[in-house]
Amino acid sequence: MPARWRCPWAASCSRCEPSTRSPSTSSRSPRRRCRSSRSATCCSRWAAPSSNRKSLSKWREASPPTPPAEPLIQARGVTFRHDARTRPVLENCSFQIAQGDRILLEGPSGGGKSTLVSLLTGLRTPQGGVMLLHALDRATFGASGWRKRITAAPQFHENHVLSGSFAYNLLLGREWPTSPELRTKAAALCKELGLDELVAKMPAGLEEMIGETGWQLSHGEKSRLYIARTLLQGVELVILDESFASLDPETMRVAQRCVLNHAKALVVVSHP
Ligand SMILES: Nc1ncnc2c1ncn2[C@@H]1O[C@H](COP(=O)(O)OP(=O)(O)OP(=O)(O)O)[C@@H](O)[C@H]1O
Ligand SMILES: [Mg+2]
Repeated sequence: MPARWRCPWAASCSRCEPSTRSPSTSSRSPRRRCRSSRSATCCSRWAAPSSNRKSLSKWREASPPTPPAEPLIQARGVTFRHDARTRPVLENCSFQIAQGDRILLEGPSGGGKSTLVSLLTGLRTPQGGVMLLHALDRATFGASGWRKRITAAPQFHENHVLSGSFAYNLLLGREWPTSPELRTKAAALCKELGLDELVAKMPAGLEEMIGETGWQLSHGEKSRLYIARTLLQGVELVILDESFASLDPETMRVAQRCVLNHAKALVVVSHP
């Protein structure tokens, strides 16, 4: 089953309009179709994964929707197959992401969520349809121009801690040596993500060597390092592919608040 987009703001989203009630949800809120996406299904109910639902539902309160400006991303009829012999993972997929959007993308395992993320970040190219950023294609921006505007924290098994200092891992991809301002920003972000205890515990603080031969981070600490690394790119669209999956509820709430404070536009991938 392909991944589905659900608009967490549908109840108050100016781009969504009510359509017919689905029989299965007739006793609940009406289903809505988002004008911003021909293929999207929006639901006025917050559709977070059950383990995260309580916490994620607070996002709506934490950051009310803003009127959409020009679309940041426009996908029209995007089709992608990994292998010519298999069925497409994504077929005729159309949607928009506006500046300031906070979107939860959920779907079953193998549904194509991470594939869509790789298309959004420009790691893969659609075989059909177009993916536009500010109404321009990737060839116009160039690979690095596109990367400077959209960054994803890949799913845990595809993300890495490199052998180097904690600061180096945080500021990966930024000009090196980094400016004092950027290091201050990195330290502040660590604090917001609840990583300040870890930094205080490490003898060399942000300069502590981590990775294979260095300080070993826990699963949840790594997850937050990856979130911080992504936010510190200062891009226009941040995508987090199951970045909250290994966090306990309280740590997850703290991390979500931080992400909402710093991401200009946000897509969070999660399981239903
Ligand atoms: N390089 C590849 N070659 C062939 N098939 C692939 C390749 N990468 C992914 N796939 C297949 O594409 C489908 C979608 O994979 P994808 O990783 O996008 O799913 P997902 O929705 O992110 O799943 P999960 O929730 O488990 O992370 C899967 O069936 C997967 O096996
Ligand atoms: Mg995935």
